[in-house]
Amino acid sequence: MCGIVGYVGTQQAAPILLEGLSRLEYRGYDSAGVCVEQNGVLKVEKAKGRLQNLIAKTENGALLPGTLGIGHTRWATHGEPNDTNSHPHVSQNGKIAVVHNGIIENYLELREFLQQKGVQFASQTDTEVVAQLMEYCMGLPEVETVSDALYMVLHRIEGAYALGILCSDDPDHVYAARKDAPLLIGFGEGENFIASDVTALVKYTRDVVYMDDGEVAVLGRDGVQVYNAMELPIEKEHHHIDWEISAAEKGGYEHFMLKEIMEEPEALRRAILPRIKDGAVVFDGLMLDSSCYDCIKIIACGSSYHVGMVGKYNLEKLTRMPVEVILASEFRYCSPIVNERTLAIIISQSGETLDTMAALREAKSLGARILSIVNVVGSSIARESDDVLYTWAGPEIAVATTKAYSTQMAVLDLLAVYLAAQRNTISAEEANRLTAAIAALPAQVEQILSSREQIQYYASQYFNHDSVFFIGRNLDYALGMEGSLKLKEISYIHSEAYASGELKHGTISLIEPGTLVIALGTYGPLFDKAMSNVIEVKARGASVLALTTENRREALSSRVDGILTIPETELPLLPLLGVVPLQLFAYYVALQRGCDIDKPRNLAKSVPAGVFYGSTRFRLPGRIRFSLRMLSECGMMKKTEKGVFL
Ligand code: F6R
Repeated sequence: MCGIVGYVGTQQAAPILLEGLSRLEYRGYDSAGVCVEQNGVLKVEKAKGRLQNLIAKTENGALLPGTLGIGHTRWATHGEPNDTNSHPHVSQNGKIAVVHNGIIENYLELREFLQQKGVQFASQTDTEVVAQLMEYCMGLPEVETVSDALYMVLHRIEGAYALGILCSDDPDHVYAARKDAPLLIGFGEGENFIASDVTALVKYTRDVVYMDDGEVAVLGRDGVQVYNAMELPIEKEHHHIDWEISAAEKGGYEHFMLKEIMEEPEALRRAILPRIKDGAVVFDGLMLDSSCYDCIKIIACGSSYHVGMVGKYNLEKLTRMPVEVILASEFRYCSPIVNERTLAIIISQSGETLDTMAALREAKSLGARILSIVNVVGSSIARESDDVLYTWAGPEIAVATTKAYSTQMAVLDLLAVYLAAQRNTISAEEANRLTAAIAALPAQVEQILSSREQIQYYASQYFNHDSVFFIGRNLDYALGMEGSLKLKEISYIHSEAYASGELKHGTISLIEPGTLVIALGTYGPLFDKAMSNVIEVKARGASVLALTTENRREALSSRVDGILTIPETELPLLPLLGVVPLQLFAYYVALQRGCDIDKPRNLAKSVPAGVFYGSTRFRLPGRIRFSLRMLSECGMMKKTEKGVFL
């Protein structure tokens, strides 16, 4: 997903923008650009490919002097990645520069409108429409200020956006606006910032404000004013970022992914220990009476969805409530049966995945109570939920999630025990046993990490396979889904996960001599069945790498080609331990294959939807009503069957 940084202050802007952009590289991008104001002129530099190209081109910003600027890393959506389509986009007269995250859905219509007015477009992007429309509005006789023009533009554009805007006629301010794409403001001494992600700012300030949908911010050197969609000035709650910058750096590791796997014990301690008091699970501030709900819907994407799959098994078993786990991208299209007796659990590391966000809004509109499990504090999903359980995993930079996955699962396990205890569906003794086992997980993960050389060895044996199957039953099936995703996303090896019992219904025809099968047999009650599937694939010549618990090593050793083990724990917690060797295996395989591990091809850390579903318009602010006539006259009014919209 694209990244935005903006700066106004007394220091040179360009090096700060470039530094901020470098912190956003993990989000995924294919070009980068900066714009700096200098003596009333907006100077832009862009470069395709890695940010390093832009750093070299500008001599680390030295060629762009000035103390006010905006920067952007672009993930191409409209128009191929090249210097023309990269941001910032500048209007025809060179006076407006715009960086944008999101998608302007009605850009073609606006482009046509502006072209009819004689505007020449330089790029194919939706974003350039914003710059050109700003220039057009600035030229209208009734428009007095940049803010007037900006609000007018915001009324006309539809879609999702975080915007950073410079206007050379107002060289003391950066303008920002947000709708359905993250944007925050950083406060410094005589300097202020905007960014799409707090990691870009934490080197300079820890005092931040998260913008909400419909808000506009005007940042000067001495202060920031935020306005709501009604154009009224508002006071916003400030948040203090309490993690260290080192948390967003590699700290001696070759890759963020390995660093983040190694951080799992610490992250798990942060997620678990404050939530256990006197041997019982407590969630401070959570007032959740589960008797008010008939069912649970878990909604998420990707790895977070896989956490939900594990959650379904555990929540149903422990609480006896019916649980459905639904892909967020499908939720809106499957006529979900949701009402005020539904508890919707939304899982998201970033808290910004737009499919997940859209599903949250849909579930909310149908009456569900929204409880989210989120890593990024203050993110959109967190703010729109009725209750939030933060995972406190710290910043996750590698595109492939690891510590966020584990902490999400730990929080969901704690929640399952908490709800089961509340509903009396498990005995006090069982609740205590499970809680103690959860508390022991961080040390057990440490134990797995300490034997990672063995996993590295197996990776060196199997890294050149073209196709891998993960098989398992029950919790091991859910675990296999994540193991398979981790492997394919960073090593580009084709890999699939199957419920072992499904093999004989088709997939087994793909097994041939040498096919690698990763057989997951951690779940004791179904170990014998797992064994019979191992025998089936071995009989067809597969190489089998097994994952099981320590006390089953013996039972497996003569039947498979390699064994990885995890310590013993309570059954519901096995996937949390089991995922660690699979994450390491994927990492070491990708390392052997020379892949770009932290930034796998075609992937971004935070995934916006192609087109956002939901309300795409602001309400009309009072002060700007005067401009209805003006907009109508200049052709910016749109008539629909439902009435007249700006
Ligand atoms: C895979 C991965 C993705 C995310 C998915 C959801 O390693 O990281 O599959 O899990 O894009 O993202 P969040 O959790 O931020 O909503």
